[in-house]
Amino acid sequence: MKGVILAGGDATRLRPLTLVTNKHLLPVYNKPLIYYGIETLVNAGIDRIMVVTSPRHVENFVGLLGSGQHFISKRDGKQIQIVYGIQNGPSGIADGLYIAKDYIGSESCALYLGDNIFEDDLRVPISDFKRGAMVFLKEVTDPKRFGVANVDAKGNVLGIEEKPKEPKSNLAVTGLYLYDHSVFEKMIGQPMSERGEYEITYLNNKYIEEGTLRSVRLRKEWFDAGTTDSLLEAGNFMRNKKQA
Ligand code: DAU
Repeated sequence: MKGVILAGGDATRLRPLTLVTNKHLLPVYNKPLIYYGIETLVNAGIDRIMVVTSPRHVENFVGLLGSGQHFISKRDGKQIQIVYGIQNGPSGIADGLYIAKDYIGSESCALYLGDNIFEDDLRVPISDFKRGAMVFLKEVTDPKRFGVANVDAKGNVLGIEEKPKEPKSNLAVTGLYLYDHSVFEKMIGQPMSERGEYEITYLNNKYIEEGTLRSVRLRKEWFDAGTTDSLLEAGNFMRNKKQA
């Protein structure tokens, strides 16, 4: 399985912090935000990762991450391999994933939204993944900010709505998705959403229609560090964790 970390977007919610730099390069306590995503994937045994970002910031990512020399593969003890994909504009998460199509080839992939931080141990679901799709759900108090899963009594996901005005549950779909290679076929004919993006929720619903989407409930902390409050909250959490 290969990893794709999305680190593009305009991050307007974090201005002026992001006027000259990219959100994923901002510090969360003692590390740049993007380090958390790379470490999560590497801990789960993924050692080939494409970082997708904007033309404006790719140079900074290359300066920070190079070819992956700061991260050691769990598989062979050598450095992991990081490569870069360029997304010309913030046209959506599915659009960002599409940049990695040829890189992924016929393998499965872990798509990681670079502003997410997970505290749960994700090694087993990632290493056991074979086919279909998997999403990771977390109970939140403010579901309107997220993709929201509608689940039945057994916990099966019946549908996902992107930032619904009237959420059907308090279960947010977090920013890690496991897909088999059919994800790229599912993009054929995908329409843009009303907000002008190719939505990841569209692809997840395609897997639901096919009956091949499974979900895992997260029990520990999860951060979407896309706002000043959540960025600070994540930093404080990491500081307390380090000092505990
Ligand atoms: O964090 C989880 C949520 O992430 C999900 O619940 C939503 O379903 C999903 O749409 C997404 O919502 P956000 O509003 O938080 O997405 P945002 O625009 O902040 O982008 C998420 C990450 O992906 C961020 O690290 C920037 C990157 N990105 C985003 C877009 C739209 C790109 O690299 N390219 C893009 O075109």
